[in-house]
Amino acid sequence: MLSRQLARRVVLRVPRRWSHSPAGLTGLNSVTEEDLAHFAKILPSSSILSTLSPSATPSSELEPFNNDWMDKYHGKSTTVLKPRTTQEVSEIVRWCNQRKIGIVPQGGNTGLVGGGVPIQDELILSLANMAKVRSFDDVSGILVADAGCILQSLTDYLAPHHHIVPLDLGAKGSCQIGGNVSTNAGGLRLLRYGSLHGSVLGLEVVLPDGTVLDQLTSLRKDNTGYDLKQLFIGAEGTLGIVTGVSILAAPAPQASNNVMLALPKFENVQPLYKEVKRQLSEVLSAFEFIDRTVYDLAVKHGQGRALNPQDIEGAECFVLVETSGGNREHDEQKLNSLLESLMLAEEPLINTGVLASSPAQFSALWAIREGLTEAVSKEGKAYKYDISVPLNKFQEVVDKTREHLRSKDLLHENAVKYVVGYGHVGDGNLHLNVVAAAYTPEIEAALEPFVYELVASYRGSISAEHGIGVMKTHALQYSKSPTSIEWMKKIKALFDPNGIMNPGKVLP
Ligand code: FAD
Ligand code: MLT
Ligand code: ZN
Repeated sequence: MLSRQLARRVVLRVPRRWSHSPAGLTGLNSVTEEDLAHFAKILPSSSILSTLSPSATPSSELEPFNNDWMDKYHGKSTTVLKPRTTQEVSEIVRWCNQRKIGIVPQGGNTGLVGGGVPIQDELILSLANMAKVRSFDDVSGILVADAGCILQSLTDYLAPHHHIVPLDLGAKGSCQIGGNVSTNAGGLRLLRYGSLHGSVLGLEVVLPDGTVLDQLTSLRKDNTGYDLKQLFIGAEGTLGIVTGVSILAAPAPQASNNVMLALPKFENVQPLYKEVKRQLSEVLSAFEFIDRTVYDLAVKHGQGRALNPQDIEGAECFVLVETSGGNREHDEQKLNSLLESLMLAEEPLINTGVLASSPAQFSALWAIREGLTEAVSKEGKAYKYDISVPLNKFQEVVDKTREHLRSKDLLHENAVKYVVGYGHVGDGNLHLNVVAAAYTPEIEAALEPFVYELVASYRGSISAEHGIGVMKTHALQYSKSPTSIEWMKKIKALFDPNGIMNPGKVLP
């Protein structure tokens, strides 16, 4: 059986250069020594990190919690709490609600929109100590786990039971299932397994007043009125703290294979996708787009194994296709005849295709795709826009953004070095990345609202998967109507009248 064997990724942190200037948080209080004394009644001292006396943890120990993965957003929290049980979370939240202390729920802190770090000195509630699998039923495939379980560890847990988590992403070695649910993470398997709105069966959530909402059902079907759990999927911690997740694991495929296709021009991506879907049908499990510039960055920064340079001469972009099915011979036959028909076509859509012939090659091809985020962050500071636009506009968005930056005289080594695109074709999700030498207000002003207006002109979404966080609160109206925003605000006020839960995130 082939399985994806990617090593855990080490989360990189690079020195701070530019601080995001946040909106103020009105009406909330800072954590005091009296609060710490109360938390010490709930938690052991090992679960409390605080720069306030009497604990006086060195502030360097709080840095990984206060700074995000991209080193773009920086908080000033004095206190991180790491509860071990839902009961402890509930008691902390109840206290913070009474005292009007803002709370930032934090998972693996791999989010890309600044949602998981404080804006000012909110308390950070880390789920890292809640990392147990609660149950797994290998008949129904239902997995119930603490929210702090790392995605890769759940994959490892399920492997001997011949199941997989229906979600996969490059941050799997650090991100947590609670963070995945809270961002409604998409990733590399969405094409096959759909979104978490479908595969999450139930949640346990600590509400902003400390009440535990136990909806941790392990039923496939439950039509008893409003489906409250859906509100917390993608809420980015603004409505409550997810402490437990019930999710439908998928049977592990008996065989997986992949092929990297090099295309002479972007215009071929759409007809290629149609043809690949037609020929591979039920075994197609991923179809990922990589433009030439970002492929070259991945190679430069050692992500995966580079393809033979002669084979990919003149290629304008690449597509990584994966199959997962129940019969190796049958799947390989389908993939081989697809390749043959593509190569022998009168007007071939591809220049060449590299088919993985071993588990190591399979992983190496995936490592190129999964390493793009890291490659980009090694090259510079990335402005990341994860947008939904029609597939035939992917390249146009990248090109128009590059030209816009050029017209502002910002396209050079000391400002914007590269404008690149990659993404999940099957989901209509383009990752537009503007790789700069540094985060600067000048580049940001050139990009926003330009990018959001461009997206709106295609009736797209300003966030296909990473969420709103603190990055896009001001831009929500490009993708949500005033009525939708109004009702989102009413829902927020209903759950969290004191506004303590991840303040300043998602809503303008
Ligand atoms: P965090 O970053 O800690 O938090 C994210 C948000 O969720 C914050 O608003 C936080 O407050 C909230 N939150 C976290 N835990 C909880 C909880 N238990 N209860 C309530 N709120 C909570 N995303 C994709 O969708 N697809 C991808 O393919 C993808 N690839 C990535 C690759 C890399 C290399 C990196 C660095 C990121 C990638 N992401 C991707 C971003 C993605 O959103 C996160 O990786 C992941 O879903 C966040 O999980 P986390 O545990 O790190 O959450
Ligand atoms: C991806 O698809 O690789 C992720 O969403 C992360 C990113 O956008 O870089
Ligand atoms: Zn993505």
